[in-house]
Amino acid sequence: MSHMLHSLAYFSRISEPVGPEALQAMVGDILCSARRRNPSIGVTGALLFSGGCFAQVLEGELADVELIFETIQCDPRHKDVIVVHFHPIVARSFPEWSMAFAGIDCGERRAALAADALATPDDIAAAPGGADFVQVLRNLVMRQAELAS
Ligand SMILES: Cc1cc2nc3c(=O)[nH]c(=O)nc-3n(C[C@H](O)[C@H](O)[C@H](O)COP(=O)(O)O)c2cc1C
Repeated sequence: MSHMLHSLAYFSRISEPVGPEALQAMVGDILCSARRRNPSIGVTGALLFSGGCFAQVLEGELADVELIFETIQCDPRHKDVIVVHFHPIVARSFPEWSMAFAGIDCGERRAALAADALATPDDIAAAPGGADFVQVLRNLVMRQAELAS
């Protein structure tokens, strides 16, 4: 079981409201940590910040996902962590990203998509396997990559 790939998705809320520059710096630091550490244990995933909330998907072997998630859960930069799903997967949704970034609220369409995903965690949790949520994040990551290229 522990060698099977697992996917964990959660939502959380930023601990303290911060201005746009501090937010950029905070998210930059988080991504730096993730991109330094995740590849060393084979964890991939995506991170989104929208409307004061983080959403993140972590993928990897069970023990590795648990290890990273324990660290993340104790991080004082966020609170109210709610797990949306944690289950075995056949294949990764973010195989090429140690931690893809799906964006900070910018661009109306993207913000609307993110708001859809973040406003209804109960609906997403109720959806089979939380697949919709992963799909929303994948779409955001793809769009972010297109904008950056
Ligand atoms: C929303 C959020 C997501 C995070 N995601 C990751 C992650 O995927 N991988 C990781 O190593 N650290 C992540 N972190 C940071 C860890 O909680 C922790 O600060 C970091 O691993 C410490 O390592 P460092 O001192 O080497 O930067 C995240 C933090 C937050 C608040």
